[in-house]
Amino acid sequence: MKTIKIAPSILSADFAKMGEEVKSLEKSGADLIHCDVMDGVFVNNITFGIKMVEDLRKCTTLPLDCHLMIVHPEKYVEAFAKAGADIITVHYEACQENLKEVLLQIKKAGVKCGAVINPDTPVEKIKEAILLCNMVLVMSVYPGFGGQKFIPTALDKLREIRAIIDASGQDIDLQVDGGVTLENVTEIKEAGANVIVAGNTVFKAENRAEIIAKLKGR
Ligand code: DX5
Ligand code: ZN
Repeated sequence: MKTIKIAPSILSADFAKMGEEVKSLEKSGADLIHCDVMDGVFVNNITFGIKMVEDLRKCTTLPLDCHLMIVHPEKYVEAFAKAGADIITVHYEACQENLKEVLLQIKKAGVKCGAVINPDTPVEKIKEAILLCNMVLVMSVYPGFGGQKFIPTALDKLREIRAIIDASGQDIDLQVDGGVTLENVTEIKEAGANVIVAGNTVFKAENRAEIIAKLKGR
């Protein structure tokens, strides 16, 4: 099994204290900072964009994992790369016609790339793009908001994608995002996810270091 990495989602952070929040996550043993970028069009919520990534870059050495929930992500790839993103993931649902091209565009910009599928999208839709990715992200809630309930059909998708990755022999991360708790994290890891996004579970905890260690399984 691959090393488990925890990617706290700063969607659940206090936006007025973002620098401190990210430093606290770093001290608490987070492996990546999951940045949920929402445009109010692809999803019914608006968060932050390039400037936030640029400013967070100065606050942490952890990889900035930018989950773009926006339409036309190809318009902003270079800007997020320049701002300091380490990973950029784009939704299949936002680039149905040009997913492979956008993934290659991200790589060309010097950043790791990933494809994301929503709960209603079958693995089949990204099958041909999986081996182009550095990371594949399976949404286990409908994107837009933190604190939703985990949708269990994500487990089958994780198993399916894990089998494809393992059969390829390539070093591709498999990420899960939405509704992860201490109660369901074990079966999520058993299904093959090795990068775990956690928003509410980390931010509602009294002790972030303890919860991150527990999610990792230590
Ligand atoms: C949802 C976001 C998630 C969210 C996860 O659109 O992509 O990253 O913040 O939050 P929790 O862990 O609270 O479900
Ligand atoms: Zn996310």
